[in-house]
Amino acid sequence: MSMNTLELAEHGPVIPVIVLQQVQDAIPLAQALVDGGVRVLEVTMRTPVALRCIEAIARAVPQAIVGAGTVRSVQDARAAQTAGARFAVSPGYTAAVGETCRDIGLPLLPGVATASELMAAQAGGHDFVKFFPATAAGGIPMLKALAGPFPDVSFCPTGGLTPQNAPDFLAMPQVKVCGGSWLTPPDALAARDWPRITRLAQAAAALR
Ligand code: 3PG
Repeated sequence: MSMNTLELAEHGPVIPVIVLQQVQDAIPLAQALVDGGVRVLEVTMRTPVALRCIEAIARAVPQAIVGAGTVRSVQDARAAQTAGARFAVSPGYTAAVGETCRDIGLPLLPGVATASELMAAQAGGHDFVKFFPATAAGGIPMLKALAGPFPDVSFCPTGGLTPQNAPDFLAMPQVKVCGGSWLTPPDALAARDWPRITRLAQAAAALR
């Protein structure tokens, strides 16, 4: 049986949001993150090579728990699972994506930014959601406001998080884990500077 998305939060405080431009970077990048203590990896479906990168990581880096990010459609969800993604993250929530993920057994972390979106996601069975885009949608005050009517919901804030502000989000009891792209800076990837990425992962893993 597939994992519950809350299990993703058991592996550390930060899920890196990864944008890969070249398949050849997928395995060394995943290994660099795993070496730094970060096992849960969200590879976004924003580039033509994303699915091949997910496939490569799933095959060659067994310590990694690789998922697909930026899942926006039923087709994305199916393709992600075929490539070997063990979970999916979506920027928003639609019942179609929610139902498909449930039907195919792909754990989904759906994005929400408002109370109505949260009600829709909850109606689809999701009590653990991504709060996106976290800082632009109101940051900690907004999360505190949502926690009032939704005390049974846990959040993964993503979007605008940094090593500086992440600890404040992580200090909230309803925040189980957070997401961010800062572990994989484009210039580090372009330079294939894997030791730098391992250092960023180590620092992120120690954040809470
Ligand atoms: C994204 O979808 O790009 C993520 O939310 C990452 O946002 P960040 O680059 O602000 O961390």
